[in-house]
Amino acid sequence: MRRAIYPGSFDPLTNGHLDIIERSCRLFDEVVVSILVNQSKQSLFPLEERLEIIRAVTNSPQVRVDTFDGLLVHYAVAQGATAIIRGIRAVSDYEYELQMALMNRRLEPGVETVFLMSTEAYSFVSSRLVKEVASLGGRVTGLVPPLVEARLEARFGRRSEPKE
Ligand code: PNS
Repeated sequence: MRRAIYPGSFDPLTNGHLDIIERSCRLFDEVVVSILVNQSKQSLFPLEERLEIIRAVTNSPQVRVDTFDGLLVHYAVAQGATAIIRGIRAVSDYEYELQMALMNRRLEPGVETVFLMSTEAYSFVSSRLVKEVASLGGRVTGLVPPLVEARLEARFGRRSEPKE
């Protein structure tokens, strides 16, 4: 059983995340999407809602959704995982991701970090930009699952239709 952890804040889940989850399922028997419990970081969506959203939009028997706190590598070992999945969108992501991967390897050599590239169509999509655009009245259709779009609308109000 090859198990991988896909960790993150997922505030909120985007189609880029979903793309990475699908790709991970082709490489691993089980993918545990694990949301970081971070009390110090102000999130838009409460932890429970992020869990509910990811559970609702990932309906593969290969995907499990969970939360974690503390060191990621400790959690990965406790879960019996051999890999940590991280999505890379652009070269700019790489430096920070490389640092994290090497630190995690130093802490726990038995857990390998696997970088996956999402489809080019989502290479500019991030949770941070999605929140900013939605909060300022822009449409995020096609960049996030319809459920996330609805939850953003519930928070920030209905989006105006784009001009023809
Ligand atoms: O989606 P994000 O917010 O970029 O995810 C970052 C995450 C959760 C992968 C990272 O912050 C993390 O692993 N936090 C857990 C604490 C930890 O292990 N820190 C050492 C990392 S080298």
